[in-house]
Amino acid sequence: MISAGLRSRLLAAARRAMAKAYAPYSQLRVGAALLTGRGAIFSGANLENASFGLTLCAERVAIAAAAAAEGPDLKIQALAVVSDPRADCPPCGACRQVIREFGAEALIIFPGPDGLVEMNLKELLPAGFQFPGKEG
Ligand code: THU
Repeated sequence: MISAGLRSRLLAAARRAMAKAYAPYSQLRVGAALLTGRGAIFSGANLENASFGLTLCAERVAIAAAAAAEGPDLKIQALAVVSDPRADCPPCGACRQVIREFGAEALIIFPGPDGLVEMNLKELLPAGFQFPGKEG
């Protein structure tokens, strides 16, 4: 759970980031913003490539920005995703695994069929991979 104020700050940051999406192929602009354990907000947008498989999702761009700023102790408390055109936009499977690395208990907010959905990462990725012996 996060406060209503933080939730709206997170969504606003995700929308601002979405405006910077590079999505000339899909035309689906995605923005993501995350709240770190230290209380900072970092954001990112999808970054497509002519070689489609090299595309970076908004969530992973936001995580890279946060890790670059906060380093290996990064903790993700919450992460919000928005898209334009508005579509159901839960984090893809690969992003769920990457979020798990820094936020196994993170709150994930994303557009669903009837408005914004809030789910815990554990619900979205119930059996994520964990490196043998690593805590968290
Ligand atoms: N995309 C994201 O940014 N995040 C997701 O979780 C799913 C998909 C982007 C990648 C690509 O640029 C576009 O959406 C269409 O797949």
